Amino acid sequence: MQLFDVYPLFDINIVEGKACYTFDENACPYLDFYGGHAVVSIGHSHPKYVKRIKEQVEKIGFYSNSVINKLQNEVAERLGALSGYDDYALFLVNSGAEANENAIKLASFHNTRRKLIAFRNSFHGRTSAALSVTDNKRIAAPVNEGFDVQFLPLNDEAALEAALEPGDVCTVIIEGIQGVGGVQIPTDNFLKTLSKACRKHGTVLILDEIQSGYGRSGRFFAHQHAGIRPDIITMAKGMGNGFPIGGMLIHPRFEARKGMLGTTFGGNHLACAAAAAVLEVMHEEKLIENAEQVGRYLMKKLSQLHQIKEVRGRGLMIGLEFEVPVEEIRRRLLFEKKIFTGQSGTQILRLLPPLCLSKTEADSFVKALKAVLD
Ligand SMILES: Cc1ncc(COP(=O)(O)O)c(C=O)c1O
Repeated sequence: MQLFDVYPLFDINIVEGKACYTFDENACPYLDFYGGHAVVSIGHSHPKYVKRIKEQVEKIGFYSNSVINKLQNEVAERLGALSGYDDYALFLVNSGAEANENAIKLASFHNTRRKLIAFRNSFHGRTSAALSVTDNKRIAAPVNEGFDVQFLPLNDEAALEAALEPGDVCTVIIEGIQGVGGVQIPTDNFLKTLSKACRKHGTVLILDEIQSGYGRSGRFFAHQHAGIRPDIITMAKGMGNGFPIGGMLIHPRFEARKGMLGTTFGGNHLACAAAAAVLEVMHEEKLIENAEQVGRYLMKKLSQLHQIKEVRGRGLMIGLEFEVPVEEIRRRLLFEKKIFTGQSGTQILRLLPPLCLSKTEADSFVKALKAVLD
């Protein structure tokens, strides 16, 4: 049987990982500045993570959401403590798109409205409602049409106020930092205005922290730099360090009703063991602080390379914008320097390394990039 051929692939077979390195079938190491698309948070194959998953699968990997699963409570407690949202409620799913799908649905259950607002260059996933608020019509099929969505320019307060004024908007969904859109950061003031305006007009504010959350920005969630508290926060990627798990944090104002939301696999025993291990390691190894410090150090070094038009980001979510297409730079980093990076559009390199990145590894990257650019 053939695989359905939808992914443009690099001809590299990765078979192992350790901390910030991955290894191909010939044991050749690759420095991971991509994190498998912002997924690897605590580092590849962390021993505590491996042990916890092994022990769990030996006991039980899955049972349905029709019985008590205390591992879900453990994840909720650890997450509340580390994120500062211990008064919010947790609903667990399996992926980022599913988290956003449920968040939009919950918003609409809550205020019974239908109109959605998102931002230009947004990416929120490939399922129905999540895709409708994604600003990329090339990945939408005819069946995805029919949602009432308005896309606004990021950081445009006047456009936002005008759109919310009629009082008929169900939800505004915004990324903590736009990832696919090219590491575009909403300003703190814009987020504050957005939060206030949503409260005023009865609109639910959804913060999509699927890529920018889980410590990546140097705070648990990127929006915490602005000091706001959204109604719903969605998470996935870094949450399981590669084990598929997603979730949403829900403000206490929202009332749950039996049967309102549901999933077969979401919050299963094995996924929760992975998620609990991630939170334990993040806390013990102070990975959020590390992301902040090493990210700051790395951005300072990168700012000294005159070939880069702009270095922007927070923590270890960094975009390097060039005057020229970056495809060749990215290819040479990978095949000559053995370093994985990401890309947004044609002119932006996206750096999303594991949060345990060291300053020495940051230096290695800067040296390799400099050699490729010179
Ligand atoms: C901000 C954001 N939201 C949602 C998603 C969708 O997540 P998933 O691919 O797990 O469905 C992504 C994936 O890249 C993302 O970056």
